[in-house]
Amino acid sequence: MKIMAGNSNLPLARAIAGYLEVPLTDVSVRRFADEEIFVEIHENVRGEDVFVVQPTSFPVNDNLMELLICIDALRRASAKRITAVVPYFGYARQDRKPGPRTPISAKLVANLMTQAGADRVLSVDLHAGQIQGFFDIPTDNLYAAPVMAADVLTRYGGQELTVVSPDVGGVVRARALAKRLDNAPLAIVDKRRDKPGQSEVMNIIGDVSGRACILIDDIVDSGGTLCNAAQALLDQGAASVAAYITHGVLSGGAVARVDSSALKELVITDSILATEATDASNKIRVLTIAPLLGEAVRRIADESSVSSLFD
Ligand code: R5P
Repeated sequence: MKIMAGNSNLPLARAIAGYLEVPLTDVSVRRFADEEIFVEIHENVRGEDVFVVQPTSFPVNDNLMELLICIDALRRASAKRITAVVPYFGYARQDRKPGPRTPISAKLVANLMTQAGADRVLSVDLHAGQIQGFFDIPTDNLYAAPVMAADVLTRYGGQELTVVSPDVGGVVRARALAKRLDNAPLAIVDKRRDKPGQSEVMNIIGDVSGRACILIDDIVDSGGTLCNAAQALLDQGAASVAAYITHGVLSGGAVARVDSSALKELVITDSILATEATDASNKIRVLTIAPLLGEAVRRIADESSVSSLFD
């Protein structure tokens, strides 16, 4: 097995390789003066089972293109099997037509990965599980819930917990976390979004009075959904609100918004490389999913069960 990394999250790729006790494949990913991407693999990969670690986070289009070119280089170098390890799958939110004459960009991205030569895809907390159906190659969608549940129990274990989904679409994810927290009760924020990047809380479904609320979501981008939900929960009498969100996209002024919000803390994973602003935040903490990804890679390579990781 070989682990190859693009440039989007080298620390994560190194940690996965460290877990598996294999060196990272010797590759250079460089830019021409006009920003064209050039990939050169400096070791033999003929007949190898290769895992390319490249979350397609900011800058999304550059990182996606880098992934596609890495896959193309591996295919032309006769790798036996190429797995795109994309812990954060950019464009996943565009998984349906929100209106007439709009694209389904997540499907386009799935087509691009497949056409480039990926044989499998490994991702974490896809925005919607159905995105797996956009691929006609095997996909594994891992869940950060076990990592999050362990942390919640360590930090908030003795308290009266309620798991909260910040929108109706996230209820399945929230229920899965609640199950790992001794079947904690659920609440749902009834969120409406008129424009991308702006959200407005309408209502809280469920009783949160006096409860330590754990908000769970797949993505925090502008932070609007999260900060509005936290305030609405406190307005309804919640004792405290902490958030566990897999992918810290944290665009624009999101970190400042979180820092000045009513949230006790925001816990994200290292699916996306943390920015300096994130590292400097006094409210944001990062959990690693490298062992989870490393173990999934090991099992894929050994052709053993990946789903049993979540039993
Ligand atoms: C939306 O359905 C997602 O699950 C997230 O709730 C959303 O992407 C968060 O975006 P923002 O932080 O910009 O409100």
